[in-house]
Order: sequence, then structure tokens, then C-alpha cells
Amino acid sequence: MSARFVRVAEAGRPTFEIVIDGCVAQAAEGDTLMVALLAAQDALRDSEFDASRRAGFCLMGACQDCWVWTVQGERLRACTTVAVPGMSIVTRTALAGEGVWPRAKS
Ligand code: FES
Repeated sequence: MSARFVRVAEAGRPTFEIVIDGCVAQAAEGDTLMVALLAAQDALRDSEFDASRRAGFCLMGACQDCWVWTVQGERLRACTTVAVPGMSIVTRTALAGEGVWPRAKS
């Protein structure tokens, strides 16, 4: 899968592993979860409205478009959460379990 974000200007920060939907990815020290996720894949999470994928919108904690989940079920706002080593993140509503917004019926 191609990444939405590409690291162009700096590449010197230490990196560490996170897990995204069961797959290991690399994050850089200081990344928000949004940056780490979009540097690894082309979208942030499933839409709650249809089968499309979302990539965030405001990047400042206001729009609610970047909710993802830990494997334990905790919901995180990806644009305001700092990625830390060992995080295991779920971006697919089908994998997220209890507490996930139900997908609207169409
Ligand atoms: S992108 Fe808007 S709240 Fe995170």
C-alpha cells in the first residue's frame, strides 16, 4: 500500500515499530499518530458513513475525522496523539470491536 505522506526534508529522527491493523510499520520519534499512519498507508481509518476511507481533515483536534483505536479498544484522535513504541492501532471498523461508531445503513 502506498503512503499518503512522504518524508522529504528530514530523515534523521530515531524510528521505532508500531503495528497498524496487525502489520508492523515504522514511526519516527515525535510523530503524531496521524503522521505515522499516513507515512505508512494511504488512509487513516474507515468512514463511519460508507465504505470509503478517511485521511483526517483539520489536523488540529477539532473535526473528529481522525479517530482510530488501540487493539484494547481505546479510541484515539490520531492528529493529537503522539506515537509511541509498541502501539498497536486499528483503523478498520470491522476490527475495532465494542465502542466503535456503527456504520450508517445505506
Ligand atoms: S484531523 Fe481533525 S480532529 Fe484530527
